Amino acid sequence: MQGQLKIVPSILSASQGNLTATVKRLHAAGLTTIHLDIMDGCFVPEITFGAKLCADLGKEVDATWDAHLMVANPEHQLERFAEAGADWITVHYESSNHIHRLLSRIKELGKLAGVSINPGTPVTALEPLLDIADLILVMTVNPGWGGQKLITSCLDKVRWLLERTEAKLMVDGGVNLETIGQVADAGADLTVVGSALFREELETVLPKLQQAAAHSPRESR
Ligand code: DX5
Ligand code: ZN
Repeated sequence: MQGQLKIVPSILSASQGNLTATVKRLHAAGLTTIHLDIMDGCFVPEITFGAKLCADLGKEVDATWDAHLMVANPEHQLERFAEAGADWITVHYESSNHIHRLLSRIKELGKLAGVSINPGTPVTALEPLLDIADLILVMTVNPGWGGQKLITSCLDKVRWLLERTEAKLMVDGGVNLETIGQVADAGADLTVVGSALFREELETVLPKLQQAAAHSPRESR
């Protein structure tokens, strides 16, 4: 059976004034895992939102909540996001000297433990984490903003990881109609899509993205 690249929408580029309605619309369209880009103005320059938004949206929509923590000192946020109902919690390799401990802690909290790497971090840095990470989030842009151009060479990291881990592999940054085919070909299980989902009507763009994503050569895992 062929694996299919699954789209995980990021609400970063949606209007913050209308997030409940946006999330309801995404969920109704079958996009039931929602990516929350948490930025603290320190690890990355922008500030987005915190655990309370996860809790509040969780009261409105029965989704799987995927918290991507682009924050310094992520150890302070793990319990908060777990209590807020995040199902997947991803921390950046670059954000802690104790990344292994953080992944263990996320698992202790009963959550899916993710680790993310910036474009400038060699994928081999993840070698000691391959058995403990449930999810590896390969950044294909430098984190901080939506709407950037995908750095194609980062997809080689997905190919390297495919040979070495059972962790789910997710790509994040610059994925759109032009690039989603490359992400599928690299063998990722999941891809974040942000700004590309909000440039035109969801009903128009989603089938096009799904069609372009349907070519993943990877076996289902
Ligand atoms: C970048 C974020 C991404 C990004 C995705 O810092 O982690 O989730 O917003 O947005 P697009 O798809 O617009 O690159
Ligand atoms: Zn993200």
